[in-house]
Amino acid sequence: MFIPIPDNISPILKEIGTISYSKGHRAYLVGGPARDLILKRKLKDIDIMVEGNAIGVAEEYARHHNMRVKVHPEFLTAKVKGRKFIIDFASARKETYPTPGSLPIVEPGNFEEDMRRRDFTINAMAISITPDNFGELIDIVEGLNDLNKGVLRVMHEKSFQDDPTRILRGIRFSARFGFTFEDKTLEYLRRNIDYLKVVSRERILRELEFISKEGIEGIRVLTKHHIHSVLNLCTVEDKILNKIIEFSEKTGINPEKSLLASLLMCTDDFPLTSHMRKNINLIKSLGTFDIIKVARIDEDYLPLVYAYIENSEEVVKFFTVRERISPEISGGEMKKLGISPGPEMGKILEEIMVLRWQGRIKTKDDEIKFIKGRLNA
Ligand code: CTP
Repeated sequence: MFIPIPDNISPILKEIGTISYSKGHRAYLVGGPARDLILKRKLKDIDIMVEGNAIGVAEEYARHHNMRVKVHPEFLTAKVKGRKFIIDFASARKETYPTPGSLPIVEPGNFEEDMRRRDFTINAMAISITPDNFGELIDIVEGLNDLNKGVLRVMHEKSFQDDPTRILRGIRFSARFGFTFEDKTLEYLRRNIDYLKVVSRERILRELEFISKEGIEGIRVLTKHHIHSVLNLCTVEDKILNKIIEFSEKTGINPEKSLLASLLMCTDDFPLTSHMRKNINLIKSLGTFDIIKVARIDEDYLPLVYAYIENSEEVVKFFTVRERISPEISGGEMKKLGISPGPEMGKILEEIMVLRWQGRIKTKDDEIKFIKGRLNA
């Protein structure tokens, strides 16, 4: 079976296939991009597998185009940043996992080993880019069948034990494509779910970020499979999820940060950025709407504020007037009035914002009058 290759990537793939062939190696488009082409979805990047030295192929392709190439000889990979796509080149490899949850030991392997080392059958298909069969689908694991049926199937019983993050990857794909875990795979998932606890918190957090990008379905699927209780994440009720989305749709704010924070609000286990920690702490400290606290929360987290507090219509109002309530007076002008920069200035600015919110200050003149009055008090 031949897969139609869109015009925007066909010349790139043909060229890479030709370079590779001239060096005596067959090359393929593999993994997510192969899956996405079959699904007729837009490609985010390009993953190439070479049955041979992928680094040499990447270097030659980059040289032709005057592009930079970053090589990782220890992983047998190279990355080229093209104008429209990032192209990842990897030599066919086999992987062994010394202990559950550890990073794999990578060794050169053949085509079959490279396909069978992968997470799910739908991600283990290859589309040839070699000139003599350009576009041909090579599917040794019946991935196409699973793709058509909408199922996620692992290659072997120990897959989730080797790499427990595959459980979270499965959640991501299930949410994105509406696929379900095949029966045996679901049994392995349940049996190995506790291995998630041995994975570093950094890697788990990264996967949770990806899941949050899939929208509320990502959080729903995560909860359905009880991952939240294994990882001590919050149980986020549907009511909260729906409100996050409602606010996002009203305002155009991307919900992903709020969705992620909704999972992480009840745990200190994860290495959050200070930014996210600050926002979560502010939200947790909110009882009802508090203009000073809400104004300190970054816009990305407003959907979560809306979902959590009772008088949530205030958050909508805040969003619509937020520019009008921010003080017009500059720091320099305040200095001229005799206020030195620092906590005092910050406090006055907040007071002005509250008065603007209450409608008691409307113009810059009002602000100046207020400051003068305050200084004379
Ligand atoms: N892969 C794997 N096990 C992992 C990570 C990756 O088997 N733990 C394989 C899969 O074949 C996957 C490919 O490496 O398709 C590329 O990984 P990645 O880019 O993370 O996955 P995508 O499938 O491209 O995911 P997305 O569409 O979300 O980018």
